[in-house]
Amino acid sequence: MKLWEGRFDAPTAADADAFNESLSFDKKLYRVDITASIAHATMLGETGIIPKEDSERIQEGLKGILKDIDEGTLPVEGAEDIHSFVENTLVSRIGEVGKKLHTARSRNDQVATDLRLYIRGSIDRIISLLHAFVTTLTMTAHEHIKCILPGYTHLRKAQPVNFAQYLNAYSEMFLRDMERLEDCRKRVNVMPLGSAALAGTSFPIDRELTKKLLKFDEISNCSIDAVSDRDFVAEYLFCLTGVMLHLSRLCEDTILYTSDEFGFWEISDAYSTGSSIMPQKKNPDIPELIRGKCGRVIGDLTGFLATMKALPLAYDKDLQEDKEPVFDAEKTVCDCVSVFHAMFKGMKFNSEAMYNAAGLGFSTATDVADYLSKKGVPFRDAHAITGKIVRYCIERGKALNELSLKEFQDVSDVFERDVTGVVLARTSAEARNSVGGSSQQAARKALIRIRNRLKHFG
Ligand code: ARG
Repeated sequence: MKLWEGRFDAPTAADADAFNESLSFDKKLYRVDITASIAHATMLGETGIIPKEDSERIQEGLKGILKDIDEGTLPVEGAEDIHSFVENTLVSRIGEVGKKLHTARSRNDQVATDLRLYIRGSIDRIISLLHAFVTTLTMTAHEHIKCILPGYTHLRKAQPVNFAQYLNAYSEMFLRDMERLEDCRKRVNVMPLGSAALAGTSFPIDRELTKKLLKFDEISNCSIDAVSDRDFVAEYLFCLTGVMLHLSRLCEDTILYTSDEFGFWEISDAYSTGSSIMPQKKNPDIPELIRGKCGRVIGDLTGFLATMKALPLAYDKDLQEDKEPVFDAEKTVCDCVSVFHAMFKGMKFNSEAMYNAAGLGFSTATDVADYLSKKGVPFRDAHAITGKIVRYCIERGKALNELSLKEFQDVSDVFERDVTGVVLARTSAEARNSVGGSSQQAARKALIRIRNRLKHFG
């Protein structure tokens, strides 16, 4: 039965019904829909808008429906959307009294309430997945505090960095994602219920009571806005896009660093794949797929933004298009974070290969320039002198740490014996003791700050 068929003479066409329906995907909202309906029914009883006994029968009926869906004994099918399904089932189970549930309510405030409750739960789930993952990152950083790898800019060796500091970079990104989600949750957790179709209701409802029952922080302030606002969806999708962007970058590093050419890390066999033709291949399908799926979540966000553009106030059916991007982005993010985390836990880190690579490619040239400038040479001149030394090395096929003191002094007489100490990858990384820098001490302190921020999330 349709919730609105009274006004019509003829039934809708089958293809119109099929096109219009949302039950096939919004059934995911069954738990939040029923929870919100129980709160609404409670409020209707408490305020005397419907008799208390009716309210209680409705609540019992709704609890039974929830239990049966949970247990899989009640198939969710045969209605226009989840709201119609729950109401139809209620009426078929408890009779006429079930028809009172929708008093002082519209599907417009109902669906907005459901989606907010759903996204609130989803935010909590994603924050907890990220929490576990960042914890692993910090543990790995702690274990590798002595390890040095090349830091890159333009994907060319730049300067040696501490591996813990490198991992801290990703912890910072994912922590920002967690903090962003937590902040977004404040704007999600505002209750539209009580706005009805768009204008509010003439019944003496108690919105404070439903707010309390549903653990919302606030009540929406304008019913027209409340039924049409989906900023919280856009913001949530943006937060999820951020997670995927960061994960995708980590995947890109993983794909590079586990290649033969780099050989820094190794993905365990359990998370590697082979080739159907090339027997020698060990492919990084998992990080590649995650990198690919990042595009999908960006699509969920941008597609949704396009849906919202130019919608007239208040509710429009276009808004039914809000759910699939939410579900898709949520599943993608949860799957990707979980599988990457599992893969990362089994990853081998080849400290020696990372350290050896860190010393190559004149990665300590800045240290030579800094050395000169600490001895009074203006940095610009120090840069030029070091450039000459690098050119000298390239011409002779030498590394900076292979030069004799004499070779240094041939270019500038400011060099003294202690220059040989500054061209090693370890001393280079250790020299950068500025806050947030790559010395062991700085990386350790940064790690403590990360752990303190993590504590906030329990
Ligand atoms: N399935 C609809 C949606 O997702 C529920 C709200 C329908 N409201 C309406 N006025 N037709 O948006």
